[in-house]
Amino acid sequence: MAKQNIFILGIESSCDDTSAAVIHNGKVLSNVVASQKIHEAYGGVVPELASRAHQQNIVPVVHQALKKANITKAQLSAIAFTRGPGLMGSLLVGTSFAKSLAYGLNIPLIDVNHMQAHILAHFIEETNFKKPPFPFLAMTISGGHTQIVNVEDYFSMMVIGETIDDAVGEAYDKSGKILGLGYPAGPEIDKRAQLGNPKAFTFTKPKVDGLNFSFSGLKTAILYFIQKETKANPNFINENINDICASIQYTIIGILIDKLKKATKATGIKHIAIGGGVSANSGIRKALQDGEQKFGWTTYIPKFEYTTDNAAMIAIVGYLKFLEANFAEQDIMASARLKI
Ligand code: KG4
Ligand code: ZN
Repeated sequence: MAKQNIFILGIESSCDDTSAAVIHNGKVLSNVVASQKIHEAYGGVVPELASRAHQQNIVPVVHQALKKANITKAQLSAIAFTRGPGLMGSLLVGTSFAKSLAYGLNIPLIDVNHMQAHILAHFIEETNFKKPPFPFLAMTISGGHTQIVNVEDYFSMMVIGETIDDAVGEAYDKSGKILGLGYPAGPEIDKRAQLGNPKAFTFTKPKVDGLNFSFSGLKTAILYFIQKETKANPNFINENINDICASIQYTIIGILIDKLKKATKATGIKHIAIGGGVSANSGIRKALQDGEQKFGWTTYIPKFEYTTDNAAMIAIVGYLKFLEANFAEQDIMASARLKI
C-alpha cells in the first residue's frame, strides 16, 4: 500500500495544560502547550480556574499548532482528543472543541485515553530515541498518576499496580508545601536533593501489598517530623533543607524502584518505559540506569516534552487508531474516571 499522508491534530485538556499538536505519519510537526500559571498561587490545580483557562487558550493554541506545522485545517485527516481521565470541566472544553471541529471539517473524530497516551508517547517517531519492544512495562509517574502497566500491544494493556491515594508528584508537591517551597515543588526538591545526604533522615516506607503504591502516609510522616523538629529548633528547615530533600527523594525513589523490581519479577519483563512529569527526576533516572547494570533492565525515557501532559502524545494515539480506522461517534462523552 502506498504510504498515506496522514495529518492528525491532537488536543489535550485533561488537567491544567491546554495543548494542541500536529503529527504527520507519526512525526511531530508541532506541539504547543499553554501551561496555566494561575494555580501556582493556590499550591495546586483549582478545577474551575483550569476549565476557564482552557476556554481562553484552546482557540489560540490550536491555531498556533497548525501554523507551526505549516498546514491548513483542510489538510487534517482526523482530530484526536483526550476523553479522560481528568478533571471533568477541563475535559469538556477539549472534547466539545474537537467534536465541533471534526464535524465542521467532516473528518473522523478519535477519542484518546490520557493514560494510554502517556505510554504510547514512546512511539512518536524521533531520532535518537529507541522504542520499547512488546511486551514492556510502563510506569507513569506524574502529579496526577502513578501506575505500572503491562503493555502487550498498542491497545492491549493492563494496569498491574497503581496508587491507592496520592500520586508520586503529589507526594513531592505536598512535601514541598510543608517545607515552604513553591508549587510544583518536584523540580526544586530534586535540585536540592542532589546537594544533600539521602540518609540524613529516615522516613518509613508504606506497606502496601502487591504492586500498588501509597504516598499519603509519607506526607503525614514528613509533616509530623517537621513539626517536631521545628519545635525544638525553629530554624530546622533552613539549616537542613538539602538533607531533608535528599532524604525525601531517597524514600520516594526507593518505593518506586522496589515496586518495579517486584513487577519485573512477577511478569518476567525487563523492558521498562517511563513517562509523566516525575520522569524528569534525576534520582529516578539514575536508579533506572543502575537497574540496567544490576538487574539487566532496558529502560526507555521519551523526550521531556512528551513526558509531561502534551498533545503530541494524544496525536500519536490518534495516528495509531487512524491506521485501524478506530473512530468515535459525535455522541461520545468525556469521562473523568476513564480506565485503561
Ligand atoms: O506530567 P506533569 O507535568 O503533569 C501532571 O501532573 O499530569 O507532572 C507534574 C508533576 C508535578 O507534581 C511536579 O512536581 C513533578 O511532576 N515533577 C518532578 C520533577 N519535575 C516535575 N518531580 C520530581 N522531580 C522532578 N525533577
Ligand atoms: Zn498526565
